[in-house]
Amino acid sequence: MATIKGFSKLSKEAKIEWIVSNYMDNDADAIEFLKSYWHPDTAVQKLHDEFIENTITNFYLPFGVAPNFKIDGKMYCIPMAIEESSVVAAAAKSANFWLDRGGFHTTILDFEKIGHVHFIWEGSDPRNLQAFFDSIKEKLRTGTNHITRNMQMRGGGILDIELVNLTSLEPGYYQIKATFDTCDSMGANFINSVLEEFSKILRSEIEITDLLEGNERKVQVVMCILSNYTPNCVVRAEVRAPVEQMAEGEGMTGQQFAEKFCRAVRIAEIEPYRATTHNKGIMNGVDSVVIATGNDFRAVEACVHTYASRSGKYTSLTHAEIKNGEFRFWIDIPLSLGTVGGLTNLHPMVKFALKLLGNPDARELMKLAAVVGLAQNFSALRSLVTSGIQKGHMKMHLLNILNQLEATEEEKKAIIHHFKDHVVSYSAAVEVFCKIRGIEVPKVINTKK
Ligand code: MEV
Repeated sequence: MATIKGFSKLSKEAKIEWIVSNYMDNDADAIEFLKSYWHPDTAVQKLHDEFIENTITNFYLPFGVAPNFKIDGKMYCIPMAIEESSVVAAAAKSANFWLDRGGFHTTILDFEKIGHVHFIWEGSDPRNLQAFFDSIKEKLRTGTNHITRNMQMRGGGILDIELVNLTSLEPGYYQIKATFDTCDSMGANFINSVLEEFSKILRSEIEITDLLEGNERKVQVVMCILSNYTPNCVVRAEVRAPVEQMAEGEGMTGQQFAEKFCRAVRIAEIEPYRATTHNKGIMNGVDSVVIATGNDFRAVEACVHTYASRSGKYTSLTHAEIKNGEFRFWIDIPLSLGTVGGLTNLHPMVKFALKLLGNPDARELMKLAAVVGLAQNFSALRSLVTSGIQKGHMKMHLLNILNQLEATEEEKKAIIHHFKDHVVSYSAAVEVFCKIRGIEVPKVINTKK
């Protein structure tokens, strides 16, 4: 296969031509196909082109909304960017269920970000390093004033700086561990800039200090980087209702449903296989809000799963209980989100999503994302412990199957009508489709999710 030097310097058209001639047999349709996804407004397209390197076109993801979310007494219509067919429907269903029962309630439990200068010091007495660190602690603050000034004016900045001795894990390994309040920004650039300045101060001060001598004046900075693990940037979202209000259809009393639901949560608390799927469902909701609002879903995912393992065993992010006749269901989730900086002021859809939410600050956005995660989990468990997940899931997936089969609008209408009272499966959909179209049903039907 072909290789190239200086690919990033080519124009977008030249990049596409190179790809198509080297990897796609000069297929002219492929060029047209890629161009068909360009935005018609060249200024908007240029904006997207410049988000990353080597952009050749755009990749669409559905942008849906889940209305009727009552959160801390305020109504929201929540934007969600996600490809999985049943997620928005599940969120909306949960929002409606809880709308009649007082809505969702949230609390910010903590709001602190973390970063480290990871360094090696090979002196023999850690107390000497501590004395030196104490002597420069104020300099670390004042020496980064030029970076932190604006953040301080907004009420944030450096919260604390400490020396951490990890020599029991790795010879000579210490950290400058700093905690930050980054206000409404996610804060990665701010934190990394401060840490790199800390590193400079550490290296220059250690050379001239009177508190250390000889070999003790040498330090090797390995790296300066924020941690995406933010166990002290946590929001709680919860719902409560009298148990009798939890009755499910004809078949289940409120007490029976609530008990079965709590047991399902308990299984996720004690069993990592189930916890993984349980938390995946929560992240269906959280990520879709995180993406729609231009935040870093990889950072959020990495953090959340570390948090779910903080006891040493991977466990559920949500919890449930029945106490004094009341059902309570809640999530504690670390979410480091921003509503300024990054894509938030650039991506037109992100700007729209934030406006739809009333331009929330970072704390409010944390609350909303946590609520959607909880709502998603409620809907999933509600289905799992009653009708089973496939009923709703496959109903939503039916349209994807029909699109794959290239069914016409008329055919779709007829097939969706048919499945109102039949169980959906890929093969059943193919059979009905073939019957309606008057073609032979294939002998082997490749079943897809
Ligand atoms: C599917 O994307 C998510 C679920 O599997 C979550 C769950 O099992 O709790 C339905």
